[in-house]
Amino acid sequence: RTVYLNGEYLPEEEAKVSIFDRGFVMGDAVYEVTSVLEGKILEFEGHLARLARSMAELQMTGNLSREEWLEIHRQLIARNNLVDGMIYLQVSRGNAGDRDFHFPPAGTPPTIVLYTQSKPGLAEDPKAKTGIKVVSIPDLRWHRRDIKTVQLLYPSMAKMAAEAAGKHDAWFVEDGFVTEGSSNNTYIVKGGKIITRELSNDILHGITRASLLKYAAEAQMEIEERPFTIAEAQAADEAFFTSASAFVMPVVEVDGVALNGGAVGPVAKRLREIYLEEGR
Ligand code: PDD
Repeated sequence: RTVYLNGEYLPEEEAKVSIFDRGFVMGDAVYEVTSVLEGKILEFEGHLARLARSMAELQMTGNLSREEWLEIHRQLIARNNLVDGMIYLQVSRGNAGDRDFHFPPAGTPPTIVLYTQSKPGLAEDPKAKTGIKVVSIPDLRWHRRDIKTVQLLYPSMAKMAAEAAGKHDAWFVEDGFVTEGSSNNTYIVKGGKIITRELSNDILHGITRASLLKYAAEAQMEIEERPFTIAEAQAADEAFFTSASAFVMPVVEVDGVALNGGAVGPVAKRLREIYLEEGR
């Protein structure tokens, strides 16, 4: 695999980052995950806009231009013959010497890493046909979840807890309400209405979420942006989540309670189809 590191295209085994890098030492880095289907990048502008916002919120400098990012994405797709898969992009604050809580001096170049991950048949994930099961877990993350940082230890722990419970994923709960999934935005459907938590610093502003809500509105579907509880999810007609890597993923069980008889519901199925049609 050919990867990108700070202006160079390198074989993956030659791409090396300093042990002093703040991404490594402090979790001081932001990232994006973007899907590629049949060689085409999905939601490129949305991911770039969010990256710029994440960097600005953390006073990180050294962002590249849209044209530079596009060229890197295109080069990686071409050099790796990527058809279906993902592009992982990470920008860390770099380093200027020994460990120090304070940010390095202005002008310290960031560390920029991108690599591709091939996932043949990504859009035909069999889990989308059967739906997935989730468990709830307290949301113990920091309170700037709108910034897409690489501080993913708690989401990793959540996924391990879900796996230990024999389920696919975890939904975070705070003050009695679902915030979002361990790596996705969450929705329930009741009486044909799509209910999803409104945007705030409590959740990541999903790129897939924004597009899906736009497509749903265009299809005359009713949308309500507000928090919901696990009990409400368990009493819902359907549930699903969205993310760049899973698109629209039906959820058929919440904390042991089956939704729609444990089968994928019509709204989630339709929204997945709409998203994949419109998004490509
Ligand atoms: N996760 N919420 C969280 C906590 C996430 O980590 C993600 C994305 C989302 C969905 O955002 P988007 O639609 O822009 O992908 C919501 C990515 C895919 C990941 O960490 O792999």
